[in-house]
Amino acid sequence: MKPVIVVHGGAGRIFKDREDGCRSGVTRAALKGYGILKHGGSALDAVEEAVVVMEEDPHFNAGRGSVLNEKGEVEMDAIIMDGKNLASGAVSAVKCIANPIKLARLVMEKTDHMLLTDQGASAFARGMGVPEVPGEKLITERSLERWKKNLEADSNPQQFQKDLGTVGAVAIDSAGNVACATSTGGLTNKRVGRVGDTACIGSGGYADNNVGAASTTGHGESIMKVVLARLILYHMEKGKSPGDAADSALDCMKTRVGGLGGVIVISNSGDWAARCSTQEMSWATVKDDQLHYGIHAGEWHTQPAEEAIGSRRC
Ligand code: GLY
Repeated sequence: MKPVIVVHGGAGRIFKDREDGCRSGVTRAALKGYGILKHGGSALDAVEEAVVVMEEDPHFNAGRGSVLNEKGEVEMDAIIMDGKNLASGAVSAVKCIANPIKLARLVMEKTDHMLLTDQGASAFARGMGVPEVPGEKLITERSLERWKKNLEADSNPQQFQKDLGTVGAVAIDSAGNVACATSTGGLTNKRVGRVGDTACIGSGGYADNNVGAASTTGHGESIMKVVLARLILYHMEKGKSPGDAADSALDCMKTRVGGLGGVIVISNSGDWAARCSTQEMSWATVKDDQLHYGIHAGEWHTQPAEEAIGSRRC
């Protein structure tokens, strides 16, 4: 099987001043994951490392750069899933962790559970020797500014909810295994303790070697109502291509519950799609040693992966 990776840096409104940073972030993430796959690494390792790249990039709403909850704190959700055996691990409402996706993987591999939340997740992280980072280290000037603006009496939080930036990755490795990973800071000014779609299996992501894998982004409560990632795989089981399955599922979310979002999808034969019902979504993929990426509808850049690695810090 030829390895393929697809990543997204979130669906929503991507303003001009963030475009270059988002393009650069998603392409670095895709190249990082593809490098792992090319060296015989697993889809699981590839999606985890691709998401780590974006968690560490302040352009995205995940890890450093996460939006703030109503108390001005970073609370993050993440999920990872292995299509080989349907194993998955997730964390929700975690604070002071640089890479929630790594903690999600530890939940998957070191516990009998699938989702740990808040203080239980923190205690587990300490037990696993995962270093705590001061909460302020994850806060950027931009997220602080948005939080403050939303507290103003005449603010319009909807305006900022459109500016999402969850990150995710799906991949297939040379052994034919698929995997997905998704990580987010959630919604701006969300309630303390809110659990979003990203941490919920089938909503934030799903991976099954019998079909393929999907990672989602967008309005979490809407995504949960239609169980978006699993819905996409359902359409693929019924014979739809990744692109058609993604379009049908996003259309269902829009018409049934009025929610917007975006998805990346890969099939177990290596076909892929990146689709959104929002204005923009940053995405990148590497297949057959060619990097492709874009943000706006119809935007499509292509570059040999080797050349792209040379011109970026990967
Ligand atoms: N999809 C990210 C969130 O709503 O938390």
